[in-house]
Amino acid sequence: MTDIVEQFRRYAELCKAVQRKAIELENHPDKVKQLRRFSPGEVADILGISPSHLRNLVRMEGFPQGTIAGSSRRSFTIDEIHEARRWLLATTGNARYAPQRRPGQDKLQVVTFVNFKGGSGKTTSATHFAQYLALHGYRVLMVDLDPQASATTLFGLDPDAEVEDATTFASWLRRDDGAGSAEARRLTRPTYWPGLDLVPASIALQHAEYELVGRLLQQREYPFYRQLGGFLDLVGEGYDVVVCDCRPDVGMLTINALFAATGLVIPIPPSMLDFASSGEFFRFMAEVAADFRQSLSSSALSYDFVRIVTTKYKSTDRNQTEIVSWKQALFQEAVLKEPMVETALVDAAGIVKETLYEYEPGGSRRTYERGLAAMNRVNATIEAELLAVWGRPRTRTREAA
Ligand SMILES: Nc1ncnc2c1ncn2[C@@H]1O[C@H](COP(=O)(O)OP(=O)(O)OP(=O)(O)O)[C@@H](O)[C@H]1O
Ligand SMILES: [Mg+2]
Repeated sequence: MTDIVEQFRRYAELCKAVQRKAIELENHPDKVKQLRRFSPGEVADILGISPSHLRNLVRMEGFPQGTIAGSSRRSFTIDEIHEARRWLLATTGNARYAPQRRPGQDKLQVVTFVNFKGGSGKTTSATHFAQYLALHGYRVLMVDLDPQASATTLFGLDPDAEVEDATTFASWLRRDDGAGSAEARRLTRPTYWPGLDLVPASIALQHAEYELVGRLLQQREYPFYRQLGGFLDLVGEGYDVVVCDCRPDVGMLTINALFAATGLVIPIPPSMLDFASSGEFFRFMAEVAADFRQSLSSSALSYDFVRIVTTKYKSTDRNQTEIVSWKQALFQEAVLKEPMVETALVDAAGIVKETLYEYEPGGSRRTYERGLAAMNRVNATIEAELLAVWGRPRTRTREAA
């Protein structure tokens, strides 16, 4: 009989070998991920101006010109988009070109994407939201708290080879007593997205879960739930929004993300099984909140917003459209009106470890643009929640040409 321990070890090694091969294939020829350039239409949309206004602006002195390569159209880097936003702020004085939070006035917002249901679209939603915010000029920190490290992988890092344990949130849990902001800041790693830093994940987070439990058993008063919050207190000043991606179950790190959060986004695909397990999630949340409120403080686990987002929605499926409208009727404003549609392009992009914001489709641009527009609408509605918390107008209004 095969030794089961040996068998699992061997399978683990085989998975690693296949993963290495996949990374080799996906990242070839240049291993380092770079961000693509953005078309004038995309730039106009991101800046909230009309395409014709943008055409006029590129003739103005000091406005970024983008690049015209050969016979192709003008395109812009994300740095140029940020530069354009600064130019618009300087020339118009319109506060909507200054999206960053006002120091001492607007609080840091921490948005946690969470659901116990595996594969419900947490990582896809969280990563796209973080990148959407970065594109729109916010300073963003993404914290990957899932040992599966899917978000980390989407940012072009191989969690096995490129993420040392000491660079994940696990190392913060093992910090020396005197560790402060310098040590905390060391974990926030810049990505190829200007304005978007990442605290990456690796399997070290799995061990961290056990360690946290062990520590709690030894020291009953250990504030295990405040570790992420404490970390963000030290690094938060440099950011407007923190986006947390969680593993699909209840772990100590998920509880930390629930504690640190100022807003929750719960992705639920429109299927019976997803609702069943999301029901369990809400039951659990009710219990955790009741426990912590009783033992800790009556304001524990208070959020500015809790929103359900419909993910992987097939609008051509009659059952799904019924489920979605039923859900909308029951949950009312707790469900974001904009669903994220299922699109093969999220998968296609994901295979090459990209998001819709990074992907350059080889085939139909129309399908791509439809998917991207749906993703933008979802993200804009979550952004509106942030703006409401900061007391700013909730809707993006497009400026006339
Ligand atoms: N809108 C979409 N259209 C098509 N496929 C999607 C969409 N959103 C997510 N997916 C796919 O569904 C799968 C699961 O998505 P994702 O990894 O975001 O879920 P998750 O909740 O983070 O999973 P886990 O629980 O394992 O962390 C992925 O293969 C992803 O590419
Ligand atoms: Mg995930």
